[in-house]
Amino acid sequence: MDFQSLFSFVFFTFTAVFFLFSLCLYILRLKPCCDCDVCTAFITRSWAEEFVNISDWYTHLLRKSTTGTIHLHVLNNVITANPDNVEYMLKTNFDNYPKGKAFSAILGDLLGRGIFNVDGKCWRFQRKMASLELGSVSIRSHALNVVVDEIESRLIPFFSSVADNNDGSVLDLQDVFRRFSFDSICKFSFGLDPGSLKPSLPVSELESAFDLSSKLCAERGMAPSPLIWKIKRLFNMGSEKKLKASIKTVKKLADQVIKKRRETGSSSTNDLLSRFMGSISDDDYLRDIVISFLLAGRDTVASALTSFFFLLSQNPKVVKKIREESDRVMGTTRETLASFNDLQKLHYLQAALHESMRLYPPVQFDSKFATQDDVFPDGTFVSRGSRVTYHPYAMGRMERIWGPDSMEFKPERWICDGEFKQENAYKYPVYQGGVRVCLGKEMSLVEMKVVALSLIRRFHVRVVNPSQVLRFAPGLTATVSGGLPAFVQPIDLPR
Ligand code: HEM
Repeated sequence: MDFQSLFSFVFFTFTAVFFLFSLCLYILRLKPCCDCDVCTAFITRSWAEEFVNISDWYTHLLRKSTTGTIHLHVLNNVITANPDNVEYMLKTNFDNYPKGKAFSAILGDLLGRGIFNVDGKCWRFQRKMASLELGSVSIRSHALNVVVDEIESRLIPFFSSVADNNDGSVLDLQDVFRRFSFDSICKFSFGLDPGSLKPSLPVSELESAFDLSSKLCAERGMAPSPLIWKIKRLFNMGSEKKLKASIKTVKKLADQVIKKRRETGSSSTNDLLSRFMGSISDDDYLRDIVISFLLAGRDTVASALTSFFFLLSQNPKVVKKIREESDRVMGTTRETLASFNDLQKLHYLQAALHESMRLYPPVQFDSKFATQDDVFPDGTFVSRGSRVTYHPYAMGRMERIWGPDSMEFKPERWICDGEFKQENAYKYPVYQGGVRVCLGKEMSLVEMKVVALSLIRRFHVRVVNPSQVLRFAPGLTATVSGGLPAFVQPIDLPR
C-alpha cells in the first residue's frame, strides 16, 4: 500500500469512527426512546394530520399545559408561552441563556462574528455601537429617505402597473414585499441598490445568493442531527456545496462594496457601513456586521407586511378605519406619503400593525441554550445544555394572555383613551425583549407604516383567497408557502 492510499484509509477510518461515536453520544443525549405522546407525535409527524403548521400544534399543546410550558424530550427542548418564564430568560437570568454554540454553528458560515450570531464580549461591543448609531436622528432620517424613495420610485409604480391592467391581474404580495425590503435594507446598510423591485422584477445576484444562503442555513437547523450537515460540509457535498458557493457570492459582493467605500471615503454617505467604518478597521468583521443587519431587517419586515395585508383582506372595516384616520391626519388628497410627524398621530394604524404581528409574528419562535441547571418561575426544571424556546406565535393565541377573543383581529385592544398603548414586552415578545431586544424595532415600525399607508390610501388590495389558512414554509422567519397572490385596483382619489 503506497503512502497516499494508507493516508486515505486512516483518514476515512478515523472520520467514520468519529462520526459513529458522535452520533451515539448525540442520540443518547436526545432520549430518542421517549414514548410520551408529544415525542411520539413529533417523531411520527402525526401532528400534521390535525394541524397545518407545527406552530399550531405547539400552540395547542401550550394552551393545554397548566404552566404554559412543555418539554419535547427527543429534542431536549423546553418550549414556553409563559410571560414570567420569558421575562426570566430574556432579562432576569439573561446570562444563563445565550444563543449558544449550536445556534452560532448553524449561521456561522454566513454571519461570522456579526451581532446576530455572537454572545459575550463580541456581542456587547456591537450592541453598544449599533444602539448608538440606530438611535441617532441622522440615521433614522436616512432610513426614512431610503424607504420613501423606494416607495415612490418602485413600489407605487409597480402596484399602479398591475392595477392599470384592469384585467383582474394579480401580484404576489409576499414576493413584492420581499423585493421591497431587500432593496431598502441593502441601501440602508451598505448604500448598495440591488434593484430587485425594478419593473421587470430582475433576479439580483446578491438577492438570490443571500436567499439561498439563509434558506440552506435554516435547513441545517432542521436536520435531525448537526452531524449530518457537518459531515456534508467536510466533504463539500450536496446542499453544503451550494451553501458554500452562495455564501462566497454574498461575501464577494459585500467585500467589493467595502473596498470601494474605503477608496472613496465614507464621509459623504450616511449608511450603516460608513458609520461603522469609523470604529472598525478589520474589513472581514465589518462585512459580518453588515450582513447580520441584512438578515435581521429583510425577511422580518416583508413577513409582517404580508400577513398584515392578509388580515386586512379579511377585515375591510379595519381598512376603512385606517383610511379615515389617515385622511383626518394627512388630508384627503392622498398624494403625499406620511411624515414622521404624521406617523406619531396615527394611533389606529400603529395598533393594527401590532395586532397583526400578535397573530402572525415574523419570528414565530426563538431559542437559547441553558449554560447551567435552572428552575423557571413556573417551576419547570431546565437542565444544563437544554434548548429553551419562547414562542411568540403561541403566546399571541393564548386566551389566558389575551382573553376569550384572542383569535380575533381587533386593533382596538391596543387603544386606550384614543391612544395606542404599548403592551408588556414579555407578554408580546414579537421583537424579543429584555437585554437583546430587537435593535430595529422603531425603524421597522416606521417603514411598515409608511409602506402600508402608501398602498392602503391609493389601492384596493384584496388577497385572492382571504379565507385560506396560512401554511408557513420552514425557515428562520415566517414565510407563506407559495406566496400570497392579491388583486389590486386603483382608488379614485379626490383632487
Ligand atoms: C417587523 C420587523 C422585525 C421584527 C419582528 C424583528 C424581530 C426581532 C427578534 C425576535 C430579534 C431577536 C432574534 C434573536 O436574538 O434570536 C431581533 C433581533 C435583532 N433585530 Fe429585529 N426585527 C425586525 C426588524 C428589524 C430591522 C428592520 C432591523 C435593522 C435595521 C433589525 C435589527 C435587529 C438586530 C441587529 C437584532 C439583533 C439584536 C441583538 O442580538 O442584540 N430588526 N429582531
